[in-house]
Amino acid sequence: MELILESPRLLLRQFTLADADSLLQLNSNPAVMQYLHEAPLHTIADAEKVLTDIIFPQYKNKLGRWAVILKENNQFLGWCGLKYLAENDEVDLGYRLLQEHWGHGYATEGALHCVEYGFKKLSLPFIIGRAHVDNKASIKVLEKVGMKFVREGVEDECPVKIYRIQA
Ligand SMILES: CC(C)(COP(=O)(O)OP(=O)(O)OC[C@H]1O[C@@H](n2cnc3c(N)ncnc32)[C@H](O)[C@@H]1OP(=O)(O)O)[C@@H](O)C(=O)NCCC(=O)NCCS
Repeated sequence: MELILESPRLLLRQFTLADADSLLQLNSNPAVMQYLHEAPLHTIADAEKVLTDIIFPQYKNKLGRWAVILKENNQFLGWCGLKYLAENDEVDLGYRLLQEHWGHGYATEGALHCVEYGFKKLSLPFIIGRAHVDNKASIKVLEKVGMKFVREGVEDECPVKIYRIQA
């Protein structure tokens, strides 16, 4: 398992198959999935398939969605990271945390360090972020990491706000 980055309270590392149960907990909570155009997971096998088919292939070129671990007790909080979107040739900042860990600034802390990693270590020219227009917590995190609103759009049939930060 590869450590990607460290922030004051968090470690961000690559997922492994041993995280399937944690991912199942995350993606089976309707509150977590509320604004996401994504089917909830129901079984460990579903979660293993997401890891194998979606998450692991993102780990090319040091990118991807990374497991967020709380340093003080090694607890899994969720994920945060930078995903390459081939359709627009751009890199997207994303985050998703277990509901019991919302509201402690963890998403902002992880996201800030992902942006810094993207610019300093990967020399990305810019990073984008997208959130459902009603996903206020997510939009707040994008704004707190310094992203600027670009436009509204429709993605996967959902109305989204698109943000961007320049290196
Ligand atoms: C988005 C998410 C990761 C945020 O996690 P978090 O740990 O609560 O984020 P933070 O604590 O770093 O910051 C959240 C900010 O949004 C604010 N916020 C939360 N809910 C809000 C609401 N309903 N209206 C307005 N602001 C809200 C918080 O007050 C905080 O801002 P502040 O620090 O200025 O007070 C979490 O809500 C989540 O996992 N949601 C489900 C998955 C998801 O939607 N991911 C984003 C997809 S685009």
